[in-house]
Amino acid sequence: VLWSILGIVIAYLIGSISTSTIVVRLVSGKDIRHHGSGNAGATNTLRMLGTKWGIAVLIVDAVKGMIALWVVYGLAHANPVALALSAIAVVVGHNWPIFFGFRGGKGIATTIGVLLWMAPLMTIIAGILCLIVIALTRYVSLGSLILTILIPILLGVFTPSHESALWASIVLALLSIYRHRENVVRLLSGKERKLFDKTSDHF
Ligand code: G3P
Repeated sequence: VLWSILGIVIAYLIGSISTSTIVVRLVSGKDIRHHGSGNAGATNTLRMLGTKWGIAVLIVDAVKGMIALWVVYGLAHANPVALALSAIAVVVGHNWPIFFGFRGGKGIATTIGVLLWMAPLMTIIAGILCLIVIALTRYVSLGSLILTILIPILLGVFTPSHESALWASIVLALLSIYRHRENVVRLLSGKERKLFDKTSDHF
């Protein structure tokens, strides 16, 4: 139990390494949390620094989630409850980072990382659908919400016996809805930022 608790704390600390805040500060000297959507994530990095940096942050934040689970897997000897709680802890760290005044991101890249680790096939399927939605609508937030809500549905239908992944994905979907609540209001009122729409104030 002690190792599991330690693992969960380590997962939270790994999640707290806010890649986008660090990268944007190093590359442009600015605080990402005062620009664009104000969110410390890959999408807002893309807005500020361009596609390559956005994708780089997306990958590093996803890998961060995988590394956290890998560490916990070693420490807690594959205890599924510890893994599920750590998956949540690393995303909580990303969203509310202890090293950055508890102002972080919305957890999508890190959620993708931990769920790729726990349930790769369903995460890839949901990921492809998410990319299609983003390509068609240019709303990253809409694609992100569909991604995080779809994964627990797919897991519930196809692999309900894989309980740790199912429960982790349900909590992660709820966290994602909570973090996107302002995006949802903007989506419903047609004011959400569209990707690459530089002519709009909402980019
Ligand atoms: O993953 C975050 C994305 O879904 C929305 O980001 O900056 O447009 O609020 P943003």
